[in-house]
Amino acid sequence: MKYIVGNWKSNQNLTQSFLWLDDLIALKPKITPDKKVILCLPFTDIATFNQKLNESGLPIEVAAQNVSHMAPGKHTGEINAQMLSELVSYCIVGHHERRADFAETSDVVATKASFLLENSITPIICLDKPYLDQQIKSLFTQGVEVSKCIFVYEPASAIGTGNSIDPKDANHVAHQISFLTDYLSPVLYGGSVSPDNIKSYMDEPNISGVLVGTDSLNPTLFADIINAT
Ligand code: PGA
Repeated sequence: MKYIVGNWKSNQNLTQSFLWLDDLIALKPKITPDKKVILCLPFTDIATFNQKLNESGLPIEVAAQNVSHMAPGKHTGEINAQMLSELVSYCIVGHHERRADFAETSDVVATKASFLLENSITPIICLDKPYLDQQIKSLFTQGVEVSKCIFVYEPASAIGTGNSIDPKDANHVAHQISFLTDYLSPVLYGGSVSPDNIKSYMDEPNISGVLVGTDSLNPTLFADIINAT
């Protein structure tokens, strides 16, 4: 299975998301059964966008970009895993931007992954070299079943910069992640993935897919990435 995961980040209100979907439908991307296309949306888009997506028949799954590290209760403004469980089957956790902007730690990320799995949602866990060992150790310490997670190697230098890294280097780190997680989970690459470079990552033996930020906001580029996979 090859994974193509789009991450819209804090972009696209519902109106904009509908226009995006109309454009993507018109482009007729080739989503064969060996490709899993997952679109990580803002919370505010998920439910309504998913209805429209189902009507379109496009085999794309909606997902979330974050989840609370707290159980349901008195936590104003938090969206917990139980709430998400009725809406999505996947959720990103530990994205570099959340670590940098919201001071998320490896332990918090492991707690989020644990809540997601308790609610039958697959965590898509982002990793970078400076905290790769620490994050994986924290997952094991908190009893997170790594075989039920998807991992993404996302070097900070490549996120949103246009400076994607050498596919061989990405493959090397993807192998390291596989080794540390007993070769049980898919490992993806993320960081300035585009229609021009997608194939070079997909050709690497330890990379099972990609996480796409910037180019997932453009339906034409996203369809090109799907078709080139
Ligand atoms: P990018 O973002 O494709 O814009 O580099 C990737 C990500 O942060 O998920």
